[in-house]
Amino acid sequence: MAAVPTRANIDIGAALAEAEDLYRERNPKSFAQHREACAAMPGGNTRSAIHVDPFPLTIVRGEGARLWDLDGHEYVDYLSEFTAGIFGHSHPVIRRAIDAALDEGLNFGAHNALEARFAAAICARFPSIELVRFTNSGTEANLMAVSAARAITGRSKILVFRGGYHGGVFYFRGHGSALNAPFEYLLGKYNDLAAVEDFVQPHRGELAAILIEPMQGTTGCIAAERSFLAGLRALANETGALLIFDEVMSSRLAPGGLQEAHGILPDLTTLGKYVGGGMSFGAFGGRADLMERFDPRRPDAFQHAGTFNNNVLTMNAGLAGLTEIYTPERARALNTGGDRLRDRLNAVAQRHGLAMQFTGLGSMLAVHMTDRPIRSQDDAEHGNALLRDLFYFDLVERGIWFAKRGMFALSIALDEADHDKLVGAVEDFAETRAPLFG
Ligand SMILES: Cc1ncc(COP(=O)(O)O)c(C=O)c1O
Repeated sequence: MAAVPTRANIDIGAALAEAEDLYRERNPKSFAQHREACAAMPGGNTRSAIHVDPFPLTIVRGEGARLWDLDGHEYVDYLSEFTAGIFGHSHPVIRRAIDAALDEGLNFGAHNALEARFAAAICARFPSIELVRFTNSGTEANLMAVSAARAITGRSKILVFRGGYHGGVFYFRGHGSALNAPFEYLLGKYNDLAAVEDFVQPHRGELAAILIEPMQGTTGCIAAERSFLAGLRALANETGALLIFDEVMSSRLAPGGLQEAHGILPDLTTLGKYVGGGMSFGAFGGRADLMERFDPRRPDAFQHAGTFNNNVLTMNAGLAGLTEIYTPERARALNTGGDRLRDRLNAVAQRHGLAMQFTGLGSMLAVHMTDRPIRSQDDAEHGNALLRDLFYFDLVERGIWFAKRGMFALSIALDEADHDKLVGAVEDFAETRAPLFG
């Protein structure tokens, strides 16, 4: 949201300018690296989400829950690669799995022995997935799921939600993106079932799919209410549309993802991020009668190719990650720890009487500079963006790594001492910046 030129925002602007100056002073090598990168990549960037103004820091090393930048600063990693880095950096089990795969060679141009085992582990873990296929990213998984829904139903329209993010070509935050995949979208309001039902009414016979994140991650860890998801399940049943849960991020929030936690099963599910053990990964799966349309033995089989879909590094790292490290017990423990951490952070904001809150579920959190309840992007937009930027620079200076848009994701490498450090940094911010909250 554009900053309102109030007295308070003028003060916040001045504090932010000072924090940015300090950031520039502390990071000359990252600045030089950014300049060099600009010569070969637009804006020195190949991944929009990680750009930071005035320039991004370059990370040169990671170990466990620690990162180091080019200028030698150490950070506690509270971003965990936007949820994909759930295992911490260079987990020995993941390393062994990658080494074991490398020992047997890469790029067979054929089936390998690992893919079926990994697929079976995924089907065993996520209740709606009876059959699964692999892709190379979450974006690609969503492209395949949506395209399959259109082909199966013979319909064209896709219901998505404001604030939703399903990959680079499925961007429904803010004003959306000119580069979105050219499907016919209906853009509904998240967590407002009555409005969605009304809005969909004239299009019921044309609806191919409902695509939803059970918790909007990128837009600020905004959880869907169970009644909303149940209402969408019923709407899909009534209209004949397919319900697709994008659990690329939220699958980490319970052993079987949020579908299991809510007891609401979609027709198709998309996965990505940590499920591939930290390698490039995506997957889509679901009801056997739908997924069987991809069986290449059928004369009418859907085409789904991808050179690296079954690459052995991802297959073995993913298998080890899901079955040996992020077991159901580990998933429960990490998310319980995340709930406790969120409570501690919210207690800091409350103690200082600040319009600041941490939303999310389990191991995913986001900070919002507003005390208004957050159920949708519209609510999140009421947060003070300048204060959030200031929070970012203050915490980075104190050695906390997270996303500038305010997102945190836990890894299993973090411990209670790390959480104390984060809570301490937020406490410092609250104390020093309280006057700016007005
Ligand atoms: C919910 C959700 N869906 C899809 C994607 C896209 O995944 P990928 O970056 O692997 O293409 C993301 C990435 O952040 C995501 O958060």
